[in-house]
Amino acid sequence: MMRRMEQNLRTPGPTPLPDEVRTAQSGQMIDHRGTEFAAMLRETAGGIRELIGGGDESEVFLLTGSGSGALEAAVVNTLSPGDRVLGVTIGSFGDRFARIAEVFGAHVDRLEVTWGQAADPAVLAERLRGSEPYRAVLITHNETSTGVTNPLAQLAATVHAAPGDPLVLVDGISGVGATRFEMDAWGIDLVVSASQKAWMASPGIAIAAVGPRAHAAETTARMPRFYWDFRAARQYAEKGQTPWTPAIAVLYGLRVGVARLRAEGRERTWARHSAVAAGAQAGLKAAGLQLVAAEGHRSHTVTAAWLPDGTDWAAVNGYMRQRGLVVAGGQGPLTGRILRVGHMGDVGAPEIAAAVRGIADALGAFGPPRDADAAAAAVLATHEAALSSVS
Ligand SMILES: Cc1ncc(COP(=O)(O)O)c(C=O)c1O
Repeated sequence: MMRRMEQNLRTPGPTPLPDEVRTAQSGQMIDHRGTEFAAMLRETAGGIRELIGGGDESEVFLLTGSGSGALEAAVVNTLSPGDRVLGVTIGSFGDRFARIAEVFGAHVDRLEVTWGQAADPAVLAERLRGSEPYRAVLITHNETSTGVTNPLAQLAATVHAAPGDPLVLVDGISGVGATRFEMDAWGIDLVVSASQKAWMASPGIAIAAVGPRAHAAETTARMPRFYWDFRAARQYAEKGQTPWTPAIAVLYGLRVGVARLRAEGRERTWARHSAVAAGAQAGLKAAGLQLVAAEGHRSHTVTAAWLPDGTDWAAVNGYMRQRGLVVAGGQGPLTGRILRVGHMGDVGAPEIAAAVRGIADALGAFGPPRDADAAAAAVLATHEAALSSVS
């Protein structure tokens, strides 16, 4: 059963809002210096900390802005101009994280990995061994531009074993909340996300979870910062407030999204996303497409597939959108060469089966016919098998 008849929004963020979130977000404004707001902020930040496996010493700040703002916050609160930083980049968002550090004056080296592949901990270890110590290593947990999830636990362990024990700063924007994540156990010093991804709220709240080592780094960090200054965020968080006027309506929604995830339970949420992803992968393959991400590293929140040679992406995309299916195209060098199907947050197999059917239909309308029914059936069957193997 399709829950939203108006449009099957399958971008990897923003993601569709559950009705409960939409209702919450239409609530009347409250005083962001009042007790009701303080309770909402504490409940939501505390819930996120629990969901991402943050320990007692870590803090979650809810800042108003998009995910890129949180990336900037991660950089400016921990680093100084001239600091040596390694950007592990496996796609467009890894490039963005490295670029932000560069813009603020860090000396950034890059470990660039072919798009579609994950970073290899052995290659990272080699790179770290062969160079002067780095102050921080920037890693993308889930690379939305290619549908690849990095082996983050191993990469973080590799960084901690390197000379100087660099900080591990993570872009978790499109992974956390949907995919296994253990901030403390994996030694993640700082991770960021954003409300419009697995958290099921509208865009507008940037999430930053700060561990004790990143907190300590704030005192020596000399990059310029004002709006994103964690010292201000902390001072106000102690009173249940934010330093600046927050996106109150988005926080209403985020509180509900977080409560839903807590009610579902982390393991069940992760298993649901994993099963839906398996369905998406099987369905796109059954539609005759090849996946961008290397096997073993495929994301549970977004699946990217190569478009057949000669596809007129604008025409195919227009055809799908006229029929209410909205998927994402490629970014940067992959523009016009791939499509991406988002499956994070409030998602189940029926929406993905409908999306895969729509993709097969659209490609068939402009090229050789494809069996859309078989592709949709493959989504449902694979999803079912994946779910029953974990229950
Ligand atoms: C992995 C990743 N990093 C960064 C961003 C940028 O977030 P925003 O568009 O909210 O600034 C996104 C958004 O899609 C993302 O998926």
